Amino acid sequence: MQTVELKHPLIEHKLAILRDKKTGTKEFRELIKEISMFLCYEAMRDAKLEKAEIETPMEKMKTKKLDEDHYAFVPILRAGMGMLDGVISVVPNAKIGHIGMYRNEKTFEPVNYFFKVPKGIEKREVIILDPMLATGGSAIDAIDLLKSKGVKKIKFLCIIAAPEGLKEVEQKHPDVVIYCACIDKKLNKNKYIVPGLGDAGDRIFGTK
Ligand code: PRP
Ligand code: URA
Repeated sequence: MQTVELKHPLIEHKLAILRDKKTGTKEFRELIKEISMFLCYEAMRDAKLEKAEIETPMEKMKTKKLDEDHYAFVPILRAGMGMLDGVISVVPNAKIGHIGMYRNEKTFEPVNYFFKVPKGIEKREVIILDPMLATGGSAIDAIDLLKSKGVKKIKFLCIIAAPEGLKEVEQKHPDVVIYCACIDKKLNKNKYIVPGLGDAGDRIFGTK
C-alpha cells in the first residue's frame, strides 16, 4: 500500500475547520501545523531507535532514542513551509532542505526555481512536505530531484490529495509512501482539488 490516509475523528474535525472559507489566516496556519504533527507521527511509525543509557532521578536505565540527524524535511515552497513548524516540533533536530516550485497557471506543469538540500542528503531519510497533491506533477518532480541526488528513502506528507494525482505518483514512484489527512473527490477543470480547501499557499500566507 503506497498511500496512508489518516482516518481519525480529530483529523476530520480539524479538516472541517481548515476547509471552511470563513476560517482566517491565524487559525488556518495553526490547523496546518497541528495536522502536520499527526502526519509526521504516523509517517515515523517505522523510525529506527538506537540503544541509549540514561539516569532518571531514581536509577540508571537502558532505553532507546531516535537518531534525529538521520532525517531531513523538505518543504515544497511556498505552501509546504506551512507544514514545517508542525514536523519540527516533533523532530526538532532534523535537517531541512527546500524545493521551490510553482504550477504554471495554463499548463498546470510544475516549474522548479530553487533546490537546496543539506549535505549528505543521500544518506538520510527524506520527508517531503506539501499540503496539496493535485495532479501529482509537483510531487513527482520533487521526488525525481531528490532521487537524482542519491536519496533512497522518501516519504511524502500532504494534507489533501486528489485520486488522480495519487495514481500518477504511485505509478512513477511506487517506492514512496504518501501520508495524507484526506483523499478528496477529484480535480476540477482548473486542476484544483474539490472539495479541497482552495489555494493552500494563498490561505497560509494571506496573499489573496
Ligand atoms: C500548489 C501546492 C503544490 C502544487 C500541487 O502549489 O502547494 O505544490 O500546487 O499541484 P500539482 O499536484 O498539480 O503539482 P502552487 O503552485 O500553488 O505554489 P505555491 O505553494 O507557491 O502557492
Ligand atoms: N494547489 C492548491 O493550493 N490547491 C489545489 O486545490 C490544487 C493545487
